[in-house]
Amino acid sequence: MGVLDALLDRSVIPGYSSLGFRLRAAGWSVDDPAPGSLTGRTVVVTGATSGIGAAIAEGAVALGAHAILVGRRRARADAVAAGIVERFPGARVSVEPGDVSAAEQVRDLAARLAEYPVDALVHNAGVLPPERTASADGHELSLATHVLGPIALTELLLPQLAQSADARVVFMSSGGMYTAELPVDDVDYRRGEYRGARAYARSKRVQTALVPFLADRWGPAGVMVAGMHPGWVDTPGVDDALPRFARFAGPLLRSPVQGADTAVWLLAIDPVPPTGGFWHDRRQRPEHYLDGTRFDETARRRVAEQMRTMVEEEYLR
Ligand SMILES: NC(=O)c1ccc[n+]([C@@H]2O[C@H](COP(=O)([O-])OP(=O)(O)OC[C@H]3O[C@@H](n4cnc5c(N)ncnc54)[C@H](OP(=O)(O)O)[C@@H]3O)[C@@H](O)[C@H]2O)c1
Repeated sequence: MGVLDALLDRSVIPGYSSLGFRLRAAGWSVDDPAPGSLTGRTVVVTGATSGIGAAIAEGAVALGAHAILVGRRRARADAVAAGIVERFPGARVSVEPGDVSAAEQVRDLAARLAEYPVDALVHNAGVLPPERTASADGHELSLATHVLGPIALTELLLPQLAQSADARVVFMSSGGMYTAELPVDDVDYRRGEYRGARAYARSKRVQTALVPFLADRWGPAGVMVAGMHPGWVDTPGVDDALPRFARFAGPLLRSPVQGADTAVWLLAIDPVPPTGGFWHDRRQRPEHYLDGTRFDETARRRVAEQMRTMVEEEYLR
């Protein structure tokens, strides 16, 4: 499986598609999380009102977890929760609405989540803004949604995560991040012509670059941190943001359950995966493929320092 697996990773179209998933999944039977492996655990999933996030929440419930669904649309979250309970009678599914890009809402959400134990957190909420959009706090929206809010929420939930015997945090990135440089001198995308797909890739690059840094930061609290990408997945988000791509790639796109597979696996597999890695289809993957997008540790530290300052001064004050 090793050579085929590596070839799939480098050949984007077959690798990221449902074909890649099916080829890799053929070798996975020994690697599935054990039934009931999330029993007694509470898993918070952001962006659980749609697509991959709804499938992650359901996958966690299928393994016994109490899932807490986070999203901006309360009615949609309630509908997803009701669907999960219908398919898994007796399952515990909670809804806590919130906008993870906005500092005040992140603080409010964390205060409500303080009522629960939290063993795992999946930062899955994602946006691809068609035009430059400012978050409630004036940041470029994809940076606020994918990076600032998730780091702040994890910091605020750290006391609960530290009490878990096996705390795990997963960041849902995108294979698109491979095409982006680390925007060390313009994290908020204030310079140059704004393109939504570019902003998305840049923010997912920042998110992925910070995973090793956050693994070190949260390691003393016993938290495993993982970044991952799901491949190309047929979701309302892709239909909305990339309609031409969705039409072109149509039959090749993965199902939401396939896109959710690695996140659920990272939450549930025993033993706990090594912290600080970047994953796709249940295997660690390189952080870089293209020479032009490599960065050094100084650049990583500079971006981490900027994110730390923004989170501390705006989200955690
Ligand atoms: N689909 C793909 O091919 C693909 C590929 C690579 C990576 N991804 C990543 O996978 C994740 C899920 O994507 P998807 O395709 O399932 O997209 P989707 O169908 O658009 O779902 C996105 C989810 O994020 C939530 N969300 C967006 N902004 C939010 C905010 N500020 N606060 C809270 N929730 C927010 C949305 O809920 P509300 O509208 O209710 O807030 C929705 O539940 C994203 O991070 C995306 O970047 C997807």
